[in-house]
Amino acid sequence: MRIIFYGNHNKSAPWIAALQAALPGAEIEAWHPGAAPADHAVLWGPPQQLFDEQPRLRGVFNMGAGVDAFLHLKLPPQAVLVRLEDAGMATQMAEYVCQAVIRHFRDIDFYEREMEQGRWSFRKPLARSDFPVGVMGLGVLGSRVAQAVAHFDFPVAGWSRSRHEIEGVRCHWGADQLDEFLAATRILVCLLPLTPQTENILSRATLSKLRPGGYLVNVARGAHVVDEDLVALLDEGHLAGATLDVFRTEPLPQGHPFWNHPKIVMTPHASARTLREETVAQIARKIVAFERGEAIGGIVDTGRGY
Ligand code: NAP
Ligand code: GLV
Repeated sequence: MRIIFYGNHNKSAPWIAALQAALPGAEIEAWHPGAAPADHAVLWGPPQQLFDEQPRLRGVFNMGAGVDAFLHLKLPPQAVLVRLEDAGMATQMAEYVCQAVIRHFRDIDFYEREMEQGRWSFRKPLARSDFPVGVMGLGVLGSRVAQAVAHFDFPVAGWSRSRHEIEGVRCHWGADQLDEFLAATRILVCLLPLTPQTENILSRATLSKLRPGGYLVNVARGAHVVDEDLVALLDEGHLAGATLDVFRTEPLPQGHPFWNHPKIVMTPHASARTLREETVAQIARKIVAFERGEAIGGIVDTGRGY
């Protein structure tokens, strides 16, 4: 069995070594133009040329949960596209979103600013019940995040495409229930995949339906947000703030209005990192199962886009 690796960075060697250790019988090499035909590809951010030159691929294993970058590529018709399922990202995402929600609710920014100025001052404690959290996307990551936030006794709702039942989470589904979900939400967390249906979903039309003093946590993809609408709603005061981990263009271009916006907290797409050990173990397990003709999880429905 031949496997090609493409990492879109110059740190392929430790990944290939880890894959080789997990799949000792396989012949594994970094992809390069003209590479011999392989059975499987393990990759992140591949160029179209890779697929054009690899017509024999049967499995395309993405080293991430989101597959939006693949939706514009043409894969060999027989190849299945397989995404990462959790692989250590759900816990990271739960940590990140909980810290963002709690940082906002507990007004930590205020306290940090005051202490920096040498002031010992307090704000009145707020009621958790006034900060209902809504999670868009109740998949592998969203459902874990919703449960983690509920653990801190915030009222939590969720919205997905199909019906879900999650203990402690008020579940909504489908376009018909979106407005009701938004109207009941103050802190909105986006964990949707980026698809033609969800691109630009966080616009003035939707964000202005949040409760006054709304807050956005976007940890999914930058293109979910209409940037100008977000900035306008923050400046008008309808939204109290935003924590953004992902951006339409990454790295975020210099001069973008998000930089230095007083109501925006940002991180550089770092909320849930791809972890080598967990990722290699999951992909190796799936390749072995796939080769045996067994069913594997995480096969992307490319028509649906996730
Ligand atoms: P997932 O398991 O596929 O879950 C996707 C969820 O979104 C599902 O609940 C799905 O509904 C819902 N959904 C999809 N289209 C929808 C629509 N049109 N309307 C309403 N709900 C819709 O994906 P995941 O593993 O949780 O990952 C979610 C996303 O997180 C990824 O696609 C990626 O973009 C992002 N991500 C970001 C980072 C980071 O570091 N910032 C890391 C990992 C992932 P159903 O349940 O009904 O199908
Ligand atoms: C990261 O953003 C991922 O989709 O895994």
